[in-house]
Amino acid sequence: MRYHLAPIYCRPWLLLGLSPKLIESHYENNYGGAMRRLNAITEQLESLDYAKTPGYVVNGLKRDQLIALNSTLLHELYFATLGGAQAGAVKPAGAFAEAVARDFGSFDRWRNEFVAMANAAAGGSGWILLVYVPRDRRLFNQSASEHSQAVAGGIPILALDMYEHAYHIDFGANARAYVDAFMRNIDWKAVQERYEDAAKVDPPRPLVQAEFGDLPGVGVEEVKAMIESGTRVQLIDARPRHSASREQDIVEGATWRDPEGVQEWAGELSKSDPVVVYCVYGFHVGCKAAIALRESGFDARYLKGGHFAWKALGAPTKRHVPT
Ligand SMILES: [Fe+2]
Repeated sequence: MRYHLAPIYCRPWLLLGLSPKLIESHYENNYGGAMRRLNAITEQLESLDYAKTPGYVVNGLKRDQLIALNSTLLHELYFATLGGAQAGAVKPAGAFAEAVARDFGSFDRWRNEFVAMANAAAGGSGWILLVYVPRDRRLFNQSASEHSQAVAGGIPILALDMYEHAYHIDFGANARAYVDAFMRNIDWKAVQERYEDAAKVDPPRPLVQAEFGDLPGVGVEEVKAMIESGTRVQLIDARPRHSASREQDIVEGATWRDPEGVQEWAGELSKSDPVVVYCVYGFHVGCKAAIALRESGFDARYLKGGHFAWKALGAPTKRHVPT
């Protein structure tokens, strides 16, 4: 397959403090160069007989292809970020402005972090990116060297090129002056529109256990907060005996009960306080125990992720061997 050039997004003659000569050289030599490299590498990969090609050749070509592909994508975003005198706004507005304030504290706080990251990259090389992460529905500033360290699943909406080729024609080694000029030329209306598009992307699909219908579950963070705040909760470890014996630890504050005999121990529980029951990973055993308890009139929920989610949270456990 072939990758195709995008036209330059910004109008170089409208930029403030960034010369058309600089933008033209950047577009032609660095963006265009990456696109030409990307197509050459891709063609070479397509011609390989993978059964006969040494691993280091495949490894090197795939690494260079990734670098070239990300370079083209980030350069397109960089040129689309620059608006110059045509830029309609000097600051974010609308839902995007609210997201910036929510995720960074304030626009000035975002700006301070972004500029500090850019200045820290001066003299080196790399990208400074504002990225929307659908998984958490939040914005995040990141540095990316080698064109290839993008946040997995993130959608970059604003890009600053800190490779020397992006500024040396106009600014020599004065990267800080280039960063100032870049910040003055951001097309906030375009960034805002990209944010609105990115915010429509759903987070990864959550775990669904259709066989347990609408059985209520509760997350480990919520349970930990309940315990820390002194909320009364009956925490039941219902891991199968062999699992609990093998791990030899238990959530602090939990009582182990054999999931094979729910009806035998259910009578020990209070119906006035909530019950959280967990198994090893939060699948069948814990869910079935929670269902049995609910059928007996208890306010029972299963713990999402079970014992290992509790441990992955770094929450306290204690030594335990089931009797
Ligand atoms: Fe560049």
